[in-house]
Amino acid sequence: MEKLKIIGGNRLSGIISCSGAKNAALPMLAATILTDKPVTFKNLPYLQDITTMFEILGSMGADITLNENMDFRISTANLHDFEARYELVKTMRASILVLGSLVARHGFARIALPGGCAIGTRPVDFHLSALEQLGAKIELKNGYIEASAKKLIGCEISFPGISVTGTENIMMAAVLAKGQTILRNVAKEPEVEDLAKFLNSMGAQISGAGTDEITINGVDDLTESIFTIPADRIEAGTYLIAAAVTYGDIVIQDINANRMNNILDKLKLSGALIETTENSISLSMPHNSIHSVDISTAPFPGFPTDMQAQFTVLNALSNGSAVVTENVFENRFMHVQELNRMGCDITVKGSNAFIKGVNHLTGAPVMATDLRASASLILAGLCADGETIVDRIYHIDRGYERIEEKLSYLGADIARLPG
Ligand code: UD1
Repeated sequence: MEKLKIIGGNRLSGIISCSGAKNAALPMLAATILTDKPVTFKNLPYLQDITTMFEILGSMGADITLNENMDFRISTANLHDFEARYELVKTMRASILVLGSLVARHGFARIALPGGCAIGTRPVDFHLSALEQLGAKIELKNGYIEASAKKLIGCEISFPGISVTGTENIMMAAVLAKGQTILRNVAKEPEVEDLAKFLNSMGAQISGAGTDEITINGVDDLTESIFTIPADRIEAGTYLIAAAVTYGDIVIQDINANRMNNILDKLKLSGALIETTENSISLSMPHNSIHSVDISTAPFPGFPTDMQAQFTVLNALSNGSAVVTENVFENRFMHVQELNRMGCDITVKGSNAFIKGVNHLTGAPVMATDLRASASLILAGLCADGETIVDRIYHIDRGYERIEEKLSYLGADIARLPG
């Protein structure tokens, strides 16, 4: 198994661009099922989760090609199999995103039930109940969801809780439903807006994405589209914290800072000096000035749970005490044990992590447990004294493109060790 070796202590400095957003790209790839016309994506990130979605689409009969500009062209015109197998779904819960599109366009889907996962139970009941309300018949058989419908019929659906992929799945299903669908209590994440923009570029009629209520007027079919995946706000936030914990200064280019106010506001409170332009963010952290900042995760526009582990490291190096509260997932403090092995002083009680800042961390062999937990261990390694070896980095490759190259470019001493 590959590992990352980090020698901490280097101050990060420089200018980088972020890759396309994984969480924007995954639902868009699933949405290609909605049309028999080819779709071209620019700026698709090279990540394990994207490869998994390719494998799912490919196993159904999708044709995926890479052109000379490194754009991916996907055609689902000849889809012949409407199943997402357990071997693929178990590696990526977002596989459930193909459910809505398959039922909407082909009237049937067989998707392995995603199991438990490291950061919580993460059920898909909101997805299934909403699809039933659109007229689908749902059965759970042998660990698989089987959904069928001759034609989905638009209706008014109020989600019992806020779910990002739930909102996306049902938005995709409703695009080809007969009549109007109104979705209430939906996720307002920028990636939901991105998906609506992409679907509208193919001829869908969606309004309200980014607010609490989305209206979709069903259409008979969708056309082709060429779409650029926007930059990843979580990747950007992770690099900003990498600079902050090393008292460095970086500029992130081609990023929409308006999507990151929830993260930038907390970084400013932590003592970081931040400037933004229309498409860039710069951060510098003056020496020895990290203040502790309480964090409470929430659906957008709240502080993202996907930045919780990384911000925990920043707080761990602060000159005070902070409480980090995780409200979205029930088991998302798996990084804490490993961080404490590197000298952090963090106590978890229920959904709260109580953090006392320390002066320095020490390198150690540590184990990644999930995607963002891995990121937090790398951040800790960057500022720790001596050598940190992060094991099980397949987690990081699910969501960060060429992380060691980007961090090396910024001045970090980091290398991938073969397995
Ligand atoms: C998405 C993101 C993930 C992020 C999360 C929260 C993608 C591919 N992944 O995951 O990176 O951490 O949003 O911002 O975009 N829930 C239910 N029933 C359901 C669905 C969800 O109870 O049917 C609960 C979950 O257990 C969780 C909460 O709702 O406690 C939010 O989960 P959700 O927004 O669905 O997360 P994902 O869409 O899986």
